[in-house]
Amino acid sequence: MAKTKSITKAPALAKANAAKTGKQKLAAAAPSAPGIDIGIKEGERKKIADGLSRYQADAFTLYLKTHNFHWNVTGSMFNSLHAMFETQYTEQWAALDEVAERIRALGFNAPGSYREFAALTSIPEEPGLTNSADWREMVRQLVVANEAVCRTARQVLDVADDADDAPTEDLMTQRLQTHEKYAWMLRSLLQ
Ligand SMILES: [Fe+2]
Repeated sequence: MAKTKSITKAPALAKANAAKTGKQKLAAAAPSAPGIDIGIKEGERKKIADGLSRYQADAFTLYLKTHNFHWNVTGSMFNSLHAMFETQYTEQWAALDEVAERIRALGFNAPGSYREFAALTSIPEEPGLTNSADWREMVRQLVVANEAVCRTARQVLDVADDADDAPTEDLMTQRLQTHEKYAWMLRSLLQ
């Protein structure tokens, strides 16, 4: 009984709703996605997305390096560095998502494979650290990598500024603030 009721009632309800909104004729056709028109030309959106992809490759490489050192750090500084690296990679992980979603909002695909990241990053692959790795070498590599991320963020900031892309400028400004702070904190350990 309940089944019969819902079948007979549903079309009548849909018709009434369509009549209210005046969209009865459109209801049958599923609309396709409209073109992107957020007020930034496609060429500029592409330039910004390319910059953000290079930024993302640097940020992901730094993220992985920081997590690696969280796992592998040894020595008298173990406790504080293990915790410091965790704080940093956790924050960086959340930011990677923000950047990827900004690239998508601009209409392009976000890089998401090791092959793409390796091709796009400006941070060179450094020799693997052995069992006797010095924590100072880990910290040195993280200073250098945080600064590389900052330089790339500044390049993206320039391109975004030219296109009046405030959300990207805001995102890159926040990332600069964070990575400049990390570079300072890490460098302080070596002074
Ligand atoms: Fe952990």
